[in-house]
Amino acid sequence: MEALLTGFSKWLAATSLSHIIQSVTWIIPTLQTIHILCVAIAFSSAVMVDLRIFRLFERDEPLSDVARRFLPPIWPVLVILLITGSLLIIGEPRRSLLNTTFYLKMALLIVAILLTATLQRTALASPGLFDDRSRRLSGQLLATLSILVWCGILFAGRWIAYTQAG
Ligand code: HEM
Repeated sequence: MEALLTGFSKWLAATSLSHIIQSVTWIIPTLQTIHILCVAIAFSSAVMVDLRIFRLFERDEPLSDVARRFLPPIWPVLVILLITGSLLIIGEPRRSLLNTTFYLKMALLIVAILLTATLQRTALASPGLFDDRSRRLSGQLLATLSILVWCGILFAGRWIAYTQAG
């Protein structure tokens, strides 16, 4: 598998698009800036809904209203993260494709997407679901997991630079 990824990284790094991304000085910092701005939107949107489940934010507003306000922007923002992230990979393939931290981040991202989609669907289908005393604990467990997973993605995203293969 490593030989395959090494071969693919070498091929990717030799493409003209990779050369442009590597040689035009403003491209990588611009991609990283857009990436980080999108991270801020995705992370804060998800956490606002989690804080509502803990009744630490907008406690008098139905969870469904808070979910309807904060969760929809996450999906288009994830598309921008995918595009900027992919261009960053094309620019420096080895840095991510031969880096376990990158795959940990992508695995956590899949969990975050499944969790957020479940939360969005559940909150809209049954507005007061997690406000009901009997279900409050399961809501808080889901919200805790969501916050931990999004924090994990952030850490892994930043750590890619420090764990890249030599
Ligand atoms: C949607 C798919 C995504 C892809 C393909 C992707 C890919 C990448 C890549 C290649 C880097 C550059 C790493 C480096 O060279 O140092 C990066 C950086 C980063 N990513 Fe992502 N990412 C994605 C989504 C996310 C999400 C959802 C978050 C957090 C909510 C995130 C957080 C970060 C952070 C914090 C950095 C470090 C930025 C820096 O300080 O330069 N990424 N990402």
